[in-house]
Amino acid sequence: MPGIKDAKSVLVIGATAGIGRALALAIHNLETKPTVIVSGRRQERLDEIATQGERIRTARVDLNTHHDNLKAFVEDILSNYPDLDTILLSSGIQHIFDFKKPETIDFKVLEAELNTNYLSIIKTIILFLPHFLKRSSEGKPSFIIPITSALASAPKPDVPNYCATKAALHSFDISLRAQLKGTNVHVLEIFPPLVESELHDHQGTTPALSKHWMPLDEYTKHTLEGLIRGDPDVTAGFSVGVFEKWEKGKREQVEQATFPSK
Ligand SMILES: NC(=O)c1ccc[n+]([C@@H]2O[C@H](COP(=O)([O-])OP(=O)(O)OC[C@H]3O[C@@H](n4cnc5c(N)ncnc54)[C@H](OP(=O)(O)O)[C@@H]3O)[C@@H](O)[C@H]2O)c1
Repeated sequence: MPGIKDAKSVLVIGATAGIGRALALAIHNLETKPTVIVSGRRQERLDEIATQGERIRTARVDLNTHHDNLKAFVEDILSNYPDLDTILLSSGIQHIFDFKKPETIDFKVLEAELNTNYLSIIKTIILFLPHFLKRSSEGKPSFIIPITSALASAPKPDVPNYCATKAALHSFDISLRAQLKGTNVHVLEIFPPLVESELHDHQGTTPALSKHWMPLDEYTKHTLEGLIRGDPDVTAGFSVGVFEKWEKGKREQVEQATFPSK
């Protein structure tokens, strides 16, 4: 199966911390020696990661922006890296909302979470698709690697909007993969369990969650193996059982049932 071992030029958005940073470094260190472009909002973090490997390049972006800016970002990446064959979308945010105190719910935060975790991700994928489809027509493989969550299938009620954004992205991934079937553009969805990262720091929940999370090194090693094999759904730890229970067979059924609407 085509997998990350076939990638030569990889853009990782959300590479300044956590899962994205760890995967960016692990992919950079593959024997196949791909170039890895790391991206995110914090320039000082990007500068630091660039010191970690000779083929690491940086490209600052805030994905929570107008689509004209996303378009300019994608054009800039493709003009600097015309052989780009992989995008790994790790950018994400998470917020707690309490429906027993609806007056505390800030609609701007709701929107930012939806835009960052879903709309900006699918817009970025759509903007890169012409390039990947052109590569496909030339017989070259490309990889789209979104990160969802086990919470896409089994919601955690205190982060309801986050779970909904991940469920939306997961559903989008299934349709995207079904539509791209038969092309050389491969969708490998990463479906993580709770993993050591900075995601929960601003909520003050890290001390409690850290008792249950999968250590980042262990998670990265396991996930890299799945990406090398080209698994369409890359699960680990707790998310293996969630996937088995709620998702098993869904993708295959959608792909078989797909028929043209007109
Ligand atoms: N850790 C978990 O338990 C877990 C479980 C399931 C799924 N996930 C998912 O895994 C992905 C990585 O999360 P993580 O746990 O590694 O969290 P993290 O340590 O907080 O990293 C999140 C990354 O997203 C970037 N980011 C956030 N907003 C952005 C924006 N507007 N534009 C560009 N980049 C942005 C951050 O960089 P800047 O702040 O520099 O922009 C950072 O690099 C997320 O999609 C998350 O939902 C995590």
